[in-house]
Amino acid sequence: MKNKHVLLGVTGGIAAYKAPAIVSRLKKLGMEVKVVMTEAATKFVTPLTFQTMSNEVVHVDMFDQLNNMDVEHIALAKWADVMVIAPATANTMAKLAYGIADNMLTTVALATTAPILIAPAMNTQMLRADATQEALKVLKNRKQYEILPTAEGLLACQDVGEGKMLEPEDIVDYILMALTEKTMAGVDLTVTAGPTKERMDPVRFLSNHSTGKMGYAIAQEAAARGAKVHLISGPSHLNVPKGVDFIPVESTEDMFKAVEAKFDDTDVLIKSAAPSDYKPKTYAAEKIKKREGGLMAVEFSPNPDIAKHFGAMKGDRVIVGFAAESHNMADYAKKKLKEKNFNFIVANNITEAKAGFGSDTNHVHIFSADGTDEELPMMDKSDLAAAILDRVERDLKS
Ligand SMILES: Cc1cc2nc3c(=O)[nH]c(=O)nc-3n(C[C@H](O)[C@H](O)[C@H](O)COP(=O)(O)O)c2cc1C
Repeated sequence: MKNKHVLLGVTGGIAAYKAPAIVSRLKKLGMEVKVVMTEAATKFVTPLTFQTMSNEVVHVDMFDQLNNMDVEHIALAKWADVMVIAPATANTMAKLAYGIADNMLTTVALATTAPILIAPAMNTQMLRADATQEALKVLKNRKQYEILPTAEGLLACQDVGEGKMLEPEDIVDYILMALTEKTMAGVDLTVTAGPTKERMDPVRFLSNHSTGKMGYAIAQEAAARGAKVHLISGPSHLNVPKGVDFIPVESTEDMFKAVEAKFDDTDVLIKSAAPSDYKPKTYAAEKIKKREGGLMAVEFSPNPDIAKHFGAMKGDRVIVGFAAESHNMADYAKKKLKEKNFNFIVANNITEAKAGFGSDTNHVHIFSADGTDEELPMMDKSDLAAAILDRVERDLKS
């Protein structure tokens, strides 16, 4: 995504105050951002704010030709890899629907061949108005346009309802999706994520420190690459990535059944969850009370081994496993790779700082069935998700 060109169009809605956060996030991801504003937008946020954040001249007036060798609106239209209009007013959406190009923003939108994302933001009645709905219908039918949903909530006008602009981080997720090549179109991918919870009584359970970050990052990247993604997740507080079929589960048995339901149709199974190997042998319907003195023993019985079970039925699927180990990482990972019939296994040492449970980064080795051992540098889990999926794509082709 580094060095991709994002052209942000800002129109005159109150949500314009959130648009600088979109620039900030995109810049942090290493992208180049230019901003074009309508005259009305400048009443809400100054061009100087965007200029400072993007480190680029902000374009408002179509007849103010800053770079006198280029026709500015055409240069911007050609420069953009993607254009995103956030917030998009009812007025601007109506203009775009009918090809009206009476300011810099609408003229660039008409001149560009890049995908255009629209993040509508307005009062509920303005959104429901026939004129707005008709404009939206026209835009939705155009291949070049993607209309993002609006959120519901308390609007600036104090009404409560739909029409609220999506949060900047959600808009950035859509931008990333639009910029990602659809190299996994037609691939059905199932990914498991997070911990499982094995209930002992109505208040207690056995679980582990997995947060699901790795699996959710894989689901997000695979969906961005155009795969049909089923995310089977144990309890997690993470936001569900856009465009995935989300299947929440609790116990290892639930996870097993959920994988079983998808397995026939799936081309790729990525087992990044940390399902509990054991569960309390019995479930106490009433809370287990504290006893006087002495130890208390809890008996555990084994859970189904999801990876092994489906590894044995692999066929021509690509199956990827994970090994989070505290010692003898390479030996355990290689044994697991073989026993569970994975294409490759992503192994990490959980005792290492900034690697493993809950962290945003990981430092892994990838051991493959063909005997290779590849060490990847410490990297962000989203970059690691991309590295894993590159290898999945390679294995799908071979
Ligand atoms: C305080 C205030 C808030 C506004 N908020 C919105 C809004 O959220 N969405 C919208 O479609 N129009 C909103 N408008 C109306 C637009 O500013 C108006 O339609 C303007 O012509 C839009 O111009 P533009 O599409 O060229 O930016 C608001 C107007 C004012 C005065």
